[in-house]
Amino acid sequence: MRDKFFVTTPIYYTNGIPHIGHAYSSLIADSIARYQKINGKKVKFSTWVDENSQKALDKANEIGMEIMPYLDMMAKEHKNVWDWLKINYTDFIRTTEARHHKLVREVLQKSFDNGDIYEGEYEWMYCVGCESFKKDEDLVYMNITTKETFPITDKIKPSSNIIKVCPDHLKEPQTLKEKNYFFRLSKYEQALKDFYKKNPEFIVPQDRFNEVLAFVDRWLEDFSISRETNKFGIKLPFDESQVTYVWYDALFNYVTVCDQNDLGKQEMEFWPADLHVVWKDIIRFHAIYWPAMLMSAGYELPKNVLTTGYFTVDGQKISKSLWNAIDPVEFSAKYSKDLLSLYLLSSFNIGQDWDFDQKQAILTYNAKLANNFWNLLNRAVVLTMKMELENGLDSKVSEENLWIFKWLDFSVSSIWYKIDNLNNSSIDKIDWNFNSLFSLYNENFDKHMSSYNLKLSLDLSFKFLDSLNLYVTQKEPWTLMKDESKLEEVKEIMYTICEWVRQVSLNLYPFFPEKMSEVFNALNLKDYKSRLEAWELKILREEKVVFDIKEKAPILFEKFELE
Ligand code: MSP
Repeated sequence: MRDKFFVTTPIYYTNGIPHIGHAYSSLIADSIARYQKINGKKVKFSTWVDENSQKALDKANEIGMEIMPYLDMMAKEHKNVWDWLKINYTDFIRTTEARHHKLVREVLQKSFDNGDIYEGEYEWMYCVGCESFKKDEDLVYMNITTKETFPITDKIKPSSNIIKVCPDHLKEPQTLKEKNYFFRLSKYEQALKDFYKKNPEFIVPQDRFNEVLAFVDRWLEDFSISRETNKFGIKLPFDESQVTYVWYDALFNYVTVCDQNDLGKQEMEFWPADLHVVWKDIIRFHAIYWPAMLMSAGYELPKNVLTTGYFTVDGQKISKSLWNAIDPVEFSAKYSKDLLSLYLLSSFNIGQDWDFDQKQAILTYNAKLANNFWNLLNRAVVLTMKMELENGLDSKVSEENLWIFKWLDFSVSSIWYKIDNLNNSSIDKIDWNFNSLFSLYNENFDKHMSSYNLKLSLDLSFKFLDSLNLYVTQKEPWTLMKDESKLEEVKEIMYTICEWVRQVSLNLYPFFPEKMSEVFNALNLKDYKSRLEAWELKILREEKVVFDIKEKAPILFEKFELE
Protein backbone atom coordinates (compact mmCIF):
# COMPACT_ATOMS: atom_id res chain seq x y z
CA MET A 1 0.00 0.00 0.00
CA ARG A 2 1.37 3.39 -0.99
CA ASP A 3 1.14 6.30 1.46
CA LYS A 4 -1.27 9.05 0.49
CA PHE A 5 -0.64 12.76 0.00
CA PHE A 6 -3.44 15.31 -0.24
CA VAL A 7 -2.62 18.87 -1.28
CA THR A 8 -5.03 21.77 -1.88
CA THR A 9 -4.90 25.23 -3.41
CA PRO A 10 -7.17 27.96 -2.06
CA ILE A 11 -10.46 28.02 -3.93
CA TYR A 12 -10.40 31.16 -6.06
CA TYR A 13 -13.05 33.87 -6.22
CA THR A 14 -14.68 34.16 -9.61
CA ASN A 15 -15.19 37.89 -9.90
CA GLY A 16 -12.29 37.80 -12.36
CA ILE A 17 -9.99 35.33 -14.09
CA PRO A 18 -6.84 34.07 -12.33
CA HIS A 19 -3.80 36.35 -12.42
CA ILE A 20 -0.17 35.71 -11.71
CA GLY A 21 -0.75 35.64 -7.90
CA HIS A 22 -3.31 32.84 -8.22
CA ALA A 23 -1.05 30.98 -10.66
CA TYR A 24 1.72 31.16 -8.07
CA SER A 25 -0.24 29.11 -5.49
CA SER A 26 -1.35 26.63 -8.15
CA LEU A 27 2.18 26.14 -9.46
CA ILE A 28 3.51 25.54 -5.94
CA ALA A 29 0.83 22.93 -5.27
CA ASP A 30 1.39 21.40 -8.70
CA SER A 31 5.14 20.83 -8.30
CA ILE A 32 4.71 19.49 -4.77
CA ALA A 33 1.97 17.10 -5.95
CA ARG A 34 4.11 15.90 -8.86
CA TYR A 35 7.12 15.40 -6.63
CA GLN A 36 5.11 13.41 -4.08
CA LYS A 37 3.68 11.27 -6.86
CA ILE A 38 6.96 10.31 -8.53
CA ASN A 39 8.31 9.64 -5.07
CA GLY A 40 5.74 6.93 -4.49
CA LYS A 41 2.71 8.59 -2.91
CA LYS A 42 -0.90 8.19 -3.94
CA VAL A 43 -1.74 11.84 -4.60
CA LYS A 44 -4.96 13.81 -4.43
CA PHE A 45 -4.76 17.46 -5.49
CA SER A 46 -7.84 19.65 -5.26
CA THR A 47 -8.53 23.15 -6.55
CA TRP A 48 -11.09 25.47 -8.17
CA VAL A 49 -13.63 28.09 -7.28
CA ASP A 50 -15.25 29.86 -4.34
CA GLU A 51 -18.61 30.81 -5.78
CA ASN A 52 -21.00 31.69 -2.96
CA SER A 53 -19.59 35.16 -2.59
CA GLN A 54 -21.01 38.64 -2.68
CA LYS A 55 -18.16 39.60 -5.03
CA ALA A 56 -19.38 37.19 -7.72
CA LEU A 57 -22.96 38.35 -7.28
CA ASP A 58 -21.91 42.01 -7.62
CA LYS A 59 -19.88 41.23 -10.74
CA ALA A 60 -22.76 39.31 -12.37
CA ASN A 61 -25.09 42.26 -11.64
CA GLU A 62 -22.54 44.70 -13.00
CA ILE A 63 -22.41 42.93 -16.38
CA GLY A 64 -26.14 42.20 -16.44
CA MET A 65 -25.98 38.42 -16.17
CA GLU A 66 -27.95 35.97 -14.03
CA ILE A 67 -25.76 34.54 -11.31
CA MET A 68 -25.69 30.85 -12.34
CA PRO A 69 -24.86 31.39 -16.05
CA TYR A 70 -22.21 33.86 -14.86
CA LEU A 71 -20.71 31.31 -12.45
CA ASP A 72 -20.77 28.55 -15.08
CA MET A 73 -18.94 30.81 -17.48
CA MET A 74 -16.32 31.83 -14.91
CA ALA A 75 -15.77 28.30 -13.63
CA LYS A 76 -15.04 27.23 -17.20
CA GLU A 77 -12.65 30.13 -17.69
CA HIS A 78 -10.80 29.25 -14.51
CA LYS A 79 -10.56 25.61 -15.56
CA ASN A 80 -9.17 26.64 -18.95
CA VAL A 81 -6.38 28.56 -17.25
CA TRP A 82 -5.35 25.60 -15.08
CA ASP A 83 -5.60 23.20 -17.98
CA TRP A 84 -3.56 25.49 -20.17
CA LEU A 85 -0.86 25.69 -17.50
CA LYS A 86 -1.08 21.88 -17.24
CA ILE A 87 -1.85 21.98 -13.53
CA ASN A 88 -2.13 18.34 -12.61
CA TYR A 89 -5.14 18.55 -10.27
CA THR A 90 -7.14 15.42 -9.53
CA ASP A 91 -10.21 17.13 -8.07
CA PHE A 92 -12.21 20.14 -9.05
CA ILE A 93 -14.74 21.71 -6.72
CA ARG A 94 -17.32 24.46 -7.17
CA THR A 95 -18.94 25.54 -3.92
CA THR A 96 -22.36 25.78 -5.60
CA GLU A 97 -22.35 22.00 -6.14
CA ALA A 98 -24.94 19.86 -4.35
CA ARG A 99 -22.27 17.61 -2.76
CA HIS A 100 -20.74 20.65 -1.08
CA HIS A 101 -24.08 22.07 0.14
CA LYS A 102 -24.88 18.66 1.63
CA LEU A 103 -21.59 18.38 3.52
CA VAL A 104 -21.59 21.96 4.80
CA ARG A 105 -25.15 21.61 6.10
CA GLU A 106 -24.18 18.38 7.86
CA VAL A 107 -21.18 19.89 9.63
CA LEU A 108 -23.13 23.03 10.56
CA GLN A 109 -25.82 20.85 12.11
CA LYS A 110 -23.22 18.83 14.04
CA SER A 111 -21.63 21.93 15.54
CA PHE A 112 -25.03 23.47 16.28
CA ASP A 113 -26.12 20.27 18.05
CA ASN A 114 -23.03 20.18 20.23
CA GLY A 115 -23.48 23.81 21.24
CA ASP A 116 -20.55 25.27 19.27
CA ILE A 117 -22.84 27.43 17.12
CA TYR A 118 -25.17 29.86 18.87
CA GLU A 119 -27.43 32.78 17.98
CA GLY A 120 -26.18 36.31 18.59
CA GLU A 121 -26.15 39.82 17.27
CA TYR A 122 -23.65 41.08 14.74
CA GLU A 123 -22.67 44.70 14.49
CA TRP A 124 -21.86 46.24 11.14
CA MET A 125 -20.15 49.53 10.53
CA TYR A 126 -21.66 51.65 7.75
CA CYS A 127 -20.31 54.92 6.32
CA VAL A 128 -23.15 57.09 5.05
CA GLY A 129 -20.72 59.22 3.00
CA CYS A 130 -19.39 56.19 1.10
CA GLU A 131 -22.74 54.38 1.19
CA SER A 132 -20.91 51.19 2.06
CA PHE A 133 -20.14 48.77 4.88
CA LYS A 134 -16.74 49.10 6.49
CA LYS A 135 -14.34 46.76 8.21
CA ASP A 136 -11.64 47.82 10.66
CA GLU A 137 -9.02 47.75 7.92
CA ASP A 138 -11.02 50.32 5.91
CA LEU A 139 -10.95 52.81 8.80
CA VAL A 140 -8.38 54.89 10.66
CA TYR A 141 -8.12 56.23 14.21
CA MET A 142 -8.74 59.93 14.77
CA ASN A 143 -7.82 61.99 17.80
CA ILE A 144 -10.91 64.19 18.18
CA THR A 145 -9.05 67.04 19.81
CA THR A 146 -6.24 67.37 17.28
CA LYS A 147 -8.13 65.79 14.30
CA GLU A 148 -4.95 63.86 13.61
CA THR A 149 -5.50 60.42 12.00
CA PHE A 150 -3.33 57.30 12.21
CA PRO A 151 -3.61 53.60 11.29
CA ILE A 152 -5.57 51.22 13.48
CA THR A 153 -3.32 48.86 15.42
CA ASP A 154 -3.97 46.22 18.04
CA LYS A 155 -1.83 48.19 20.48
CA ILE A 156 -4.21 51.14 20.86
CA LYS A 157 -7.80 50.74 22.02
CA PRO A 158 -10.52 53.28 21.08
CA SER A 159 -11.45 55.72 23.86
CA SER A 160 -13.56 58.86 24.28
CA ASN A 161 -10.78 60.81 22.59
CA ILE A 162 -9.68 58.26 19.96
CA ILE A 163 -12.39 57.09 17.58
CA LYS A 164 -12.55 55.02 14.41
CA VAL A 165 -13.45 57.08 11.34
CA CYS A 166 -13.73 56.68 7.59
CA PRO A 167 -10.48 58.12 6.15
CA ASP A 168 -12.35 59.92 3.36
CA HIS A 169 -15.16 61.49 5.39
CA LEU A 170 -13.49 61.68 8.82
CA LYS A 171 -16.84 60.62 10.35
CA GLU A 172 -17.59 57.76 12.67
CA PRO A 173 -19.42 55.00 10.78
CA GLN A 174 -22.95 54.10 11.90
CA THR A 175 -23.43 50.82 13.71
CA LEU A 176 -26.14 48.52 12.35
CA LYS A 177 -27.21 45.35 14.08
CA GLU A 178 -28.28 42.01 12.62
CA LYS A 179 -29.18 38.58 13.97
CA ASN A 180 -26.34 36.14 13.20
CA TYR A 181 -25.00 32.81 14.32
CA PHE A 182 -21.58 32.60 15.91
CA PHE A 183 -18.97 29.88 16.21
CA ARG A 184 -17.67 29.34 19.75
CA LEU A 185 -13.99 29.71 18.94
CA SER A 186 -13.13 30.70 22.52
CA LYS A 187 -14.01 27.17 23.67
CA TYR A 188 -11.13 25.77 21.57
CA GLU A 189 -8.37 28.03 22.88
CA GLN A 190 -6.60 25.37 24.95
CA ALA A 191 -7.15 22.62 22.38
CA LEU A 192 -5.60 24.84 19.70
CA LYS A 193 -2.62 25.68 21.89
CA ASP A 194 -2.07 21.98 22.60
CA PHE A 195 -2.29 21.19 18.90
CA TYR A 196 0.26 23.89 17.99
CA LYS A 197 2.60 22.61 20.68
CA LYS A 198 2.42 19.06 19.36
CA ASN A 199 2.84 20.25 15.77
CA PRO A 200 5.58 22.88 15.82
CA GLU A 201 5.83 22.81 12.03
CA PHE A 202 2.11 23.16 11.35
CA ILE A 203 2.53 26.52 9.62
CA VAL A 204 5.39 27.02 7.15
CA PRO A 205 7.34 29.31 7.25
CA GLN A 206 8.04 29.56 10.95
CA ASP A 207 7.75 33.35 11.26
CA ARG A 208 4.13 33.16 10.06
CA PHE A 209 3.51 30.51 12.68
CA ASN A 210 4.95 32.82 15.34
CA GLU A 211 2.51 35.53 14.28
CA VAL A 212 -0.38 33.10 14.60
CA LEU A 213 0.80 32.00 18.07
CA ALA A 214 1.10 35.60 19.20
CA PHE A 215 -2.38 36.32 17.90
CA VAL A 216 -3.89 33.32 19.73
CA ASP A 217 -2.12 34.42 22.91
CA ARG A 218 -3.70 37.89 22.71
CA TRP A 219 -7.31 36.90 22.29
CA LEU A 220 -9.65 34.54 20.54
CA GLU A 221 -13.12 35.86 19.82
CA ASP A 222 -16.12 33.86 18.69
CA PHE A 223 -16.83 34.75 15.06
CA SER A 224 -19.93 35.23 12.98
CA ILE A 225 -20.70 32.42 10.54
CA SER A 226 -23.95 33.58 8.91
CA ARG A 227 -25.79 36.54 7.42
CA GLU A 228 -29.46 37.42 7.34
CA THR A 229 -29.13 39.90 4.51
CA ASN A 230 -27.22 37.65 2.05
CA LYS A 231 -29.50 35.60 -0.11
CA PHE A 232 -26.99 33.65 -2.17
CA GLY A 233 -25.22 30.70 -0.54
CA ILE A 234 -25.76 27.70 1.70
CA LYS A 235 -28.74 27.99 4.06
CA LEU A 236 -28.21 27.08 7.72
CA PRO A 237 -30.02 23.77 8.31
CA PHE A 238 -31.30 24.96 11.70
CA ASP A 239 -32.43 28.42 10.51
CA GLU A 240 -33.17 28.70 6.82
CA SER A 241 -33.57 32.47 7.00
CA GLN A 242 -29.76 32.67 7.28
CA VAL A 243 -27.00 31.87 4.82
CA THR A 244 -23.46 30.73 5.78
CA TYR A 245 -20.97 33.52 5.61
CA VAL A 246 -17.54 32.76 4.11
CA TRP A 247 -15.69 30.33 6.35
CA TYR A 248 -17.93 27.27 6.73
CA ASP A 249 -18.70 27.50 3.08
CA ALA A 250 -15.17 28.09 1.80
CA LEU A 251 -13.00 26.00 4.13
CA PHE A 252 -15.05 22.82 4.08
CA ASN A 253 -14.45 22.47 0.33
CA TYR A 254 -11.31 20.59 1.38
CA VAL A 255 -13.41 17.93 3.12
CA THR A 256 -16.16 17.83 0.47
CA VAL A 257 -13.69 16.59 -2.19
CA CYS A 258 -12.87 13.64 0.08
CA ASP A 259 -16.44 13.00 1.15
CA GLN A 260 -17.42 12.76 -2.51
CA ASN A 261 -14.99 13.27 -5.39
CA ASP A 262 -16.06 14.60 -8.83
CA LEU A 263 -17.21 11.10 -9.74
CA GLY A 264 -19.30 10.68 -6.60
CA LYS A 265 -16.78 8.32 -4.98
CA GLN A 266 -15.92 8.55 -1.27
CA GLU A 267 -12.20 9.11 -0.64
CA MET A 268 -12.04 9.88 3.06
CA GLU A 269 -8.78 7.90 3.23
CA PHE A 270 -7.14 11.11 1.93
CA TRP A 271 -8.31 13.14 4.90
CA PRO A 272 -6.62 14.87 6.77
CA ALA A 273 -5.02 17.07 4.13
CA ASP A 274 -1.24 16.92 4.13
CA LEU A 275 -0.87 20.43 2.84
CA HIS A 276 -3.00 23.52 2.28
CA VAL A 277 -1.31 26.23 0.16
CA VAL A 278 -2.65 29.73 0.94
CA TRP A 279 -1.38 33.30 1.10
CA LYS A 280 -0.80 35.24 4.28
CA ASP A 281 -4.09 37.18 4.05
CA ILE A 282 -6.05 34.08 4.97
CA ILE A 283 -3.57 32.38 7.27
CA ARG A 284 -5.50 33.15 10.47
CA PHE A 285 -8.58 31.49 9.07
CA HIS A 286 -6.62 28.39 8.06
CA ALA A 287 -4.46 28.27 11.16
CA ILE A 288 -7.03 29.17 13.84
CA TYR A 289 -10.67 28.98 12.68
CA TRP A 290 -10.19 25.91 10.51
CA PRO A 291 -8.66 23.52 13.10
CA ALA A 292 -11.29 24.61 15.64
CA MET A 293 -14.15 24.09 13.18
CA LEU A 294 -12.77 20.66 12.30
CA MET A 295 -12.44 19.66 15.95
CA SER A 296 -16.01 20.74 16.55
CA ALA A 297 -17.26 18.63 13.62
CA GLY A 298 -15.13 15.63 14.64
CA TYR A 299 -12.52 15.58 11.88
CA GLU A 300 -8.76 15.11 12.10
CA LEU A 301 -6.65 18.22 11.56
CA PRO A 302 -4.53 19.02 8.49
CA LYS A 303 -0.79 18.42 8.73
CA ASN A 304 0.67 21.60 7.22
CA VAL A 305 -0.32 24.98 5.92
CA LEU A 306 2.14 26.63 3.54
CA THR A 307 1.82 30.41 3.56
CA THR A 308 2.92 32.42 0.55
CA GLY A 309 3.77 36.10 0.56
CA TYR A 310 2.15 38.92 -1.29
CA PHE A 311 2.82 39.69 -4.95
CA THR A 312 2.85 43.16 -6.36
CA VAL A 313 3.48 44.28 -9.92
CA ASP A 314 5.65 47.39 -10.38
CA GLY A 315 5.34 47.92 -6.64
CA GLN A 316 1.52 48.13 -6.81
CA LYS A 317 -1.19 45.83 -5.52
CA ILE A 318 -2.38 43.56 -8.35
CA SER A 319 -5.67 45.01 -9.48
CA LYS A 320 -7.89 45.04 -12.53
CA SER A 321 -8.42 48.78 -12.19
CA LEU A 322 -4.66 49.42 -12.32
CA TRP A 323 -4.36 47.21 -15.43
CA ASN A 324 -1.42 45.42 -13.90
CA ALA A 325 -2.98 41.96 -13.46
CA ILE A 326 -0.60 39.83 -15.53
CA ASP A 327 -2.48 37.00 -17.20
CA PRO A 328 -0.49 33.78 -16.63
CA VAL A 329 -1.73 32.26 -19.89
CA GLU A 330 -0.79 35.26 -22.01
CA PHE A 331 2.54 35.55 -20.22
CA SER A 332 3.51 31.93 -20.67
CA ALA A 333 2.27 31.87 -24.26
CA LYS A 334 4.60 34.78 -24.98
CA TYR A 335 7.58 33.34 -23.10
CA SER A 336 7.02 29.84 -21.79
CA LYS A 337 5.43 28.07 -18.90
CA ASP A 338 8.92 27.00 -17.80
CA LEU A 339 9.99 30.63 -17.58
CA LEU A 340 6.99 31.42 -15.39
CA SER A 341 7.48 28.40 -13.11
CA LEU A 342 11.22 28.90 -12.82
CA TYR A 343 10.92 32.57 -11.94
CA LEU A 344 8.08 32.14 -9.47
CA LEU A 345 9.46 29.07 -7.73
CA SER A 346 13.19 29.80 -7.67
CA SER A 347 13.48 33.53 -7.08
CA PHE A 348 12.29 33.98 -3.54
CA ASN A 349 11.55 31.96 -0.46
CA ILE A 350 8.01 30.94 0.23
CA GLY A 351 6.45 33.45 2.57
CA GLN A 352 8.40 36.39 1.21
CA ASP A 353 6.57 39.34 -0.39
CA TRP A 354 7.77 39.93 -3.94
CA ASP A 355 7.47 42.40 -6.78
CA PHE A 356 6.97 40.64 -10.10
CA ASP A 357 9.71 41.79 -12.44
CA GLN A 358 9.35 40.65 -16.04
CA LYS A 359 12.93 41.57 -16.94
CA GLN A 360 14.28 39.56 -14.02
CA ALA A 361 12.07 36.62 -15.01
CA ILE A 362 13.66 36.56 -18.49
CA LEU A 363 17.19 36.95 -17.13
CA THR A 364 16.66 34.10 -14.65
CA TYR A 365 15.37 31.81 -17.36
CA ASN A 366 18.12 32.70 -19.83
CA ALA A 367 20.81 32.09 -17.21
CA LYS A 368 19.50 28.90 -15.66
CA LEU A 369 17.65 27.01 -18.34
CA ALA A 370 18.66 28.48 -21.71
CA ASN A 371 22.38 28.79 -20.87
CA ASN A 372 23.29 26.60 -17.96
CA PHE A 373 21.04 23.61 -18.56
CA TRP A 374 20.74 23.69 -22.33
CA ASN A 375 24.51 24.14 -22.86
CA LEU A 376 25.25 21.07 -20.82
CA LEU A 377 22.64 18.91 -22.43
CA ASN A 378 23.60 20.00 -25.90
CA ARG A 379 27.28 19.37 -25.22
CA ALA A 380 26.46 15.98 -23.74
CA VAL A 381 24.47 14.95 -26.79
CA VAL A 382 26.70 16.40 -29.50
CA LEU A 383 30.02 15.24 -28.06
CA THR A 384 28.77 11.77 -27.17
CA MET A 385 27.48 11.36 -30.72
CA LYS A 386 30.81 12.56 -32.09
CA MET A 387 32.58 9.69 -30.38
CA GLU A 388 30.51 7.27 -32.46
CA LEU A 389 30.56 4.64 -29.72
CA GLU A 390 29.17 1.36 -30.84
CA ASN A 391 27.81 0.32 -27.45
CA GLY A 392 27.07 3.71 -25.98
CA LEU A 393 28.70 5.24 -22.91
CA ASP A 394 29.06 2.60 -20.28
CA SER A 395 28.97 3.39 -16.59
CA LYS A 396 31.83 0.95 -15.93
CA VAL A 397 34.42 3.42 -17.09
CA SER A 398 33.46 5.82 -14.41
CA GLU A 399 33.01 3.82 -11.22
CA GLU A 400 36.31 4.92 -9.74
CA ASN A 401 37.58 8.30 -10.61
CA LEU A 402 34.86 10.62 -11.55
CA TRP A 403 35.08 13.74 -9.48
CA ILE A 404 33.45 17.01 -9.81
CA PHE A 405 34.13 18.03 -6.23
CA LYS A 406 36.87 20.34 -7.36
CA TRP A 407 34.39 22.25 -9.38
CA LEU A 408 31.63 22.37 -6.84
CA ASP A 409 30.69 25.83 -5.88
CA PHE A 410 31.48 26.13 -2.22
CA SER A 411 29.01 28.88 -1.66
CA VAL A 412 26.55 25.99 -1.34
CA SER A 413 28.58 24.34 1.37
CA SER A 414 25.96 25.21 3.96
CA ILE A 415 23.60 23.03 1.97
CA TRP A 416 26.26 20.35 1.69
CA TYR A 417 26.25 19.86 5.39
CA LYS A 418 28.61 16.89 5.19
CA ILE A 419 31.32 18.97 3.56
CA ASP A 420 30.73 22.04 5.67
CA ASN A 421 34.09 21.87 7.35
CA LEU A 422 36.21 21.26 4.31
CA ASN A 423 38.05 23.82 2.32
CA ASN A 424 39.08 23.64 -1.30
CA SER A 425 42.56 22.25 -0.60
CA SER A 426 41.28 19.18 1.25
CA ILE A 427 38.67 18.40 -1.38
CA ASP A 428 40.97 16.15 -3.41
CA LYS A 429 41.38 13.91 -0.41
CA ILE A 430 37.72 13.10 0.09
CA ASP A 431 37.17 9.45 -0.25
CA TRP A 432 33.76 9.54 -1.86
CA ASN A 433 32.91 8.19 -5.19
CA PHE A 434 30.51 9.43 -7.75
CA ASN A 435 27.52 7.66 -6.25
CA SER A 436 27.90 9.05 -2.77
CA LEU A 437 27.84 12.50 -4.30
CA PHE A 438 24.52 11.69 -5.93
CA SER A 439 23.13 10.35 -2.68
CA LEU A 440 24.14 13.53 -0.96
CA TYR A 441 22.52 15.66 -3.65
CA ASN A 442 19.33 13.61 -3.65
CA GLU A 443 19.17 13.45 0.12
CA ASN A 444 19.35 17.23 0.35
CA PHE A 445 16.98 17.76 -2.52
CA ASP A 446 14.43 15.48 -0.81
CA LYS A 447 14.94 17.20 2.52
CA HIS A 448 14.07 20.59 1.03
CA MET A 449 11.13 19.25 -0.96
CA SER A 450 9.71 17.54 2.13
CA SER A 451 9.84 20.80 4.05
CA TYR A 452 8.28 22.54 1.01
CA ASN A 453 11.35 24.67 0.41
CA LEU A 454 11.12 24.59 -3.36
CA LYS A 455 13.62 27.39 -3.82
CA LEU A 456 16.40 25.52 -2.01
CA SER A 457 15.75 22.36 -4.03
CA LEU A 458 16.00 24.33 -7.24
CA ASP A 459 19.04 26.32 -6.06
CA LEU A 460 20.83 23.13 -5.21
CA SER A 461 20.14 21.61 -8.63
CA PHE A 462 21.23 24.69 -10.56
CA LYS A 463 24.38 25.12 -8.45
CA PHE A 464 25.26 21.60 -9.43
CA LEU A 465 24.75 22.33 -13.07
CA ASP A 466 26.92 25.45 -12.72
CA SER A 467 29.73 23.36 -11.26
CA LEU A 468 29.34 20.79 -13.97
CA ASN A 469 29.56 23.50 -16.63
CA LEU A 470 32.77 24.72 -15.10
CA TYR A 471 34.11 21.18 -15.05
CA VAL A 472 33.38 20.70 -18.75
CA THR A 473 34.84 24.04 -19.72
CA GLN A 474 38.07 23.27 -17.87
CA LYS A 475 38.35 19.67 -19.07
CA GLU A 476 37.72 20.62 -22.71
CA PRO A 477 36.65 17.16 -23.90
CA TRP A 478 36.32 18.54 -27.45
CA THR A 479 40.12 19.16 -27.46
CA LEU A 480 41.02 15.89 -25.73
CA MET A 481 38.93 14.08 -28.29
CA LYS A 482 41.41 14.90 -31.01
CA ASP A 483 44.01 12.72 -29.27
CA GLU A 484 43.31 8.98 -29.70
CA SER A 485 45.17 8.09 -26.50
CA LYS A 486 42.79 10.27 -24.43
CA LEU A 487 39.65 8.48 -25.53
CA GLU A 488 39.12 6.69 -22.20
CA GLU A 489 39.40 9.97 -20.33
CA VAL A 490 36.93 11.60 -22.70
CA LYS A 491 34.51 8.74 -22.12
CA GLU A 492 34.72 9.32 -18.38
CA ILE A 493 34.13 13.02 -18.76
CA MET A 494 31.19 12.48 -21.07
CA TYR A 495 29.71 9.88 -18.79
CA THR A 496 30.00 12.32 -15.88
CA ILE A 497 28.12 14.98 -17.81
CA CYS A 498 25.37 12.66 -19.05
CA GLU A 499 24.85 11.08 -15.67
CA TRP A 500 24.70 14.42 -13.91
CA VAL A 501 22.23 15.80 -16.38
CA ARG A 502 20.16 12.63 -15.90
CA GLN A 503 20.21 12.91 -12.10
CA VAL A 504 19.33 16.61 -12.06
CA SER A 505 16.60 16.16 -14.69
CA LEU A 506 14.91 13.48 -12.60
CA ASN A 507 14.65 15.99 -9.77
CA LEU A 508 13.59 18.86 -12.01
CA TYR A 509 10.79 16.79 -13.55
CA PRO A 510 8.09 17.96 -11.06
CA PHE A 511 8.88 21.58 -11.98
CA PHE A 512 9.20 21.24 -15.76
CA PRO A 513 7.52 17.93 -16.62
CA GLU A 514 7.17 18.43 -20.37
CA LYS A 515 10.69 19.73 -20.90
CA MET A 516 12.36 17.14 -18.70
CA SER A 517 10.56 14.41 -20.64
CA GLU A 518 12.18 15.84 -23.76
CA VAL A 519 15.54 15.83 -22.00
CA PHE A 520 15.11 12.11 -21.29
CA ASN A 521 14.32 11.57 -24.96
CA ALA A 522 17.41 13.55 -25.96
CA LEU A 523 19.53 11.25 -23.77
CA ASN A 524 17.69 8.30 -25.31
CA LEU A 525 16.42 7.18 -21.90
CA LYS A 526 13.39 5.15 -22.79
CA ASP A 527 10.11 5.17 -20.83
CA TYR A 528 11.42 7.61 -18.23
CA LYS A 529 8.28 9.72 -18.20
CA SER A 530 5.97 6.75 -17.76
CA ARG A 531 8.26 5.18 -15.19
CA LEU A 532 8.36 8.40 -13.18
CA GLU A 533 4.59 8.63 -13.36
CA ALA A 534 4.59 5.06 -12.03
CA TRP A 535 6.40 6.33 -8.89
CA GLU A 536 9.86 5.08 -9.85
CA LEU A 537 11.97 8.12 -8.93
CA LYS A 538 14.00 6.21 -6.34
CA ILE A 539 14.63 3.26 -8.68
CA LEU A 540 15.64 5.52 -11.55
CA ARG A 541 18.04 7.45 -9.37
CA GLU A 542 19.91 4.24 -8.55
CA GLU A 543 19.79 2.74 -12.01
CA LYS A 544 23.05 2.21 -13.92
CA VAL A 545 22.46 3.39 -17.45
CA VAL A 546 24.28 3.22 -20.76
CA PHE A 547 23.97 6.45 -22.72
CA ASP A 548 23.35 5.42 -26.28
CA ILE A 549 22.76 8.73 -27.99
CA LYS A 550 22.10 8.60 -31.71
CA GLU A 551 20.21 11.79 -32.53
CA LYS A 552 20.80 15.49 -32.06
CA ALA A 553 18.33 17.08 -29.65
CA PRO A 554 16.01 19.89 -30.75
CA ILE A 555 16.59 23.20 -28.94
CA LEU A 556 14.66 22.77 -25.71
CA PHE A 557 15.20 26.09 -23.99
CA GLU A 558 15.29 29.02 -26.35
CA LYS A 559 16.72 32.33 -25.13
CA PHE A 560 14.43 35.36 -24.89
CA GLU A 561 15.49 38.89 -25.71
CA LEU A 562 14.89 41.63 -23.18
CA GLU A 563 12.36 44.15 -24.48
N1 MSP B 1 -11.74 32.42 -1.84
C1 MSP B 1 -10.75 32.80 -0.91
C2 MSP B 1 -9.95 31.59 -0.45
C3 MSP B 1 -10.75 30.54 0.25
S1 MSP B 1 -9.80 29.12 0.57
C4 MSP B 1 -10.76 28.19 1.50
C5 MSP B 1 -9.78 33.78 -1.58
N2 MSP B 1 -9.79 33.84 -2.91
S2 MSP B 1 -8.86 34.80 -3.82
O1 MSP B 1 -9.21 34.51 -5.18
O2 MSP B 1 -8.97 36.15 -3.39
O3 MSP B 1 -7.38 34.39 -3.56
C6 MSP B 1 -7.03 33.05 -3.58
C7 MSP B 1 -5.53 32.84 -3.50
O4 MSP B 1 -4.86 33.41 -4.61
C8 MSP B 1 -4.87 33.44 -2.29
O5 MSP B 1 -5.01 32.61 -1.15
C9 MSP B 1 -3.42 33.47 -2.76
O6 MSP B 1 -2.83 32.20 -2.57
C10 MSP B 1 -3.54 33.76 -4.25
N3 MSP B 1 -3.32 35.18 -4.53
C11 MSP B 1 -4.24 36.07 -4.98
N4 MSP B 1 -3.62 37.28 -5.16
C12 MSP B 1 -2.30 37.17 -4.84
C13 MSP B 1 -1.23 38.07 -4.77
N5 MSP B 1 -1.32 39.34 -5.11
N6 MSP B 1 -0.05 37.58 -4.29
C14 MSP B 1 0.11 36.27 -3.88
N7 MSP B 1 -0.90 35.43 -3.93
C15 MSP B 1 -2.11 35.83 -4.43
O7 MSP B 1 -9.05 34.44 -0.86
